[in-house]
Amino acid sequence: MGKGNRVAAVSVLLYASFASCVAQMIDPLLYEEQLLWVSGAQGQVNTYRIPLLTFTPKGSLLAFTEARKFSSSDVGAKFIAMRKSTDKGATWSPTTFIVNDGVTDDGLNLGSVVVDEEVGSVILIYTVCFHLYYCSPSSTMMVESMDDGDSWSHPRNLSVQLGVKSFSPGPGFGIQKRYDPAKGRLVVCGHGTIEGDGVFCILSDDHGRNWYNGAALKSIPYNQKKKAQDFNPDECQPVEMTDGSIVINVRNQNNYHCRCRVVVRSRDGGLSLPIDDLYFDYELIDPVVAAGALQKDGVMYFTNPSNEQHRVNLTLRWSLTDGKSWENKTVQIWAGPSGYSCITSLDTGSPEDRKYIFVIYEKGHRDYDETVSIAKIHLYGGW
Ligand SMILES: *[C@@H]1O[C@H](CO)[C@@H](O)[C@H](O)[C@H]1NC(C)=O
Ligand SMILES: *[C@@H]1O[C@H](CO)[C@@H](O)[C@H](O)[C@H]1NC(C)=O
Ligand SMILES: *[C@@H]1O[C@H](CO)[C@@H](O)[C@H](O)[C@H]1NC(C)=O
Repeated sequence: MGKGNRVAAVSVLLYASFASCVAQMIDPLLYEEQLLWVSGAQGQVNTYRIPLLTFTPKGSLLAFTEARKFSSSDVGAKFIAMRKSTDKGATWSPTTFIVNDGVTDDGLNLGSVVVDEEVGSVILIYTVCFHLYYCSPSSTMMVESMDDGDSWSHPRNLSVQLGVKSFSPGPGFGIQKRYDPAKGRLVVCGHGTIEGDGVFCILSDDHGRNWYNGAALKSIPYNQKKKAQDFNPDECQPVEMTDGSIVINVRNQNNYHCRCRVVVRSRDGGLSLPIDDLYFDYELIDPVVAAGALQKDGVMYFTNPSNEQHRVNLTLRWSLTDGKSWENKTVQIWAGPSGYSCITSLDTGSPEDRKYIFVIYEKGHRDYDETVSIAKIHLYGGW
């Protein structure tokens, strides 16, 4: 569509609500981009991978990543690295290592970050010994910050409440329910072990003090070795819709049915994920990866390396129909190697915050694990 046509299209919509009118004007522009972490550039760290991003109760941005000490492998010793921005992504604090797993066998893995806006906390949930590589059992761990990410609690072992089970949260963000049912509940979803895989959610109704097991969408055949094209839902990103349901966008590990994303929905605040509501989003082609999703001001956003075979072509899509369809236009954030991504936005009440979203992603020239980059996207940049 040309600019004139778009203006015409917008005027036709004058009768529609202001919000939907503004949504029609979305025309994202890559506004600025910064590398937050460069693998191999710091003495103590071999590779940075698995970036997470969140807003905070005070309007800061927090970026987290696994700092893999000795190799690029998922297994092995790691720190959790963090950087903070208090000026809407313009500048970032130096890296701090907020957790050190202190092991040499199967270290920690990220993870989900969830903000409790009712009490002003930021909670980070991760796993240790997930791959059971020379250690056992796998445990689900939590650290919490009450001061906008400046200091963090000692790690707490949530497996004491949840039972011992391999659970790898996210990677991405968890949510606090803003609408009923279960307004205020913390919902963190992730996936299980290689054989006992599936999407599982853990829930807290008291701001993270007590956690219990919620929805389970199990792989088939469950607890058995998988073959190509088995049903194997894996890493996932939940978002809350304005009707209070939770939509979870899921990695389709064994390419069951399509080389595309699986979408499931919970209508009971994360207690169940009925198969009746599951569908395959054929437009969201995917090379089997962790993707980003965000619901903001009635628009759903999605990022992944949009390619059926390879982790390249990191692309932003948006939907004005709650993900039922996607706008034909897409924005390519990076053509080259690109992997995991996570999206957030600020909402401190300023009009400025309506205009931007932030995408953190794995980016490289030869391999996608060379850097972790953050892109600030102007949603109305083409206007
Ligand atoms: C966490 O708690 C579980 C259950 O009590 C226990 O089996 C496991 O060893 C604990 N993990 C860590 C890292 O302390
Ligand atoms: C990148 O993604 C867009 C949108 O899905 C697609 O049209 C294009 O073919 C992709 N390019 C590559 C090289 O995968
Ligand atoms: C998107 O493209 C399809 C196929 O080319 C077309 O049928 C549809 O009308 C387009 N949608 C919009 C919103 O332009």
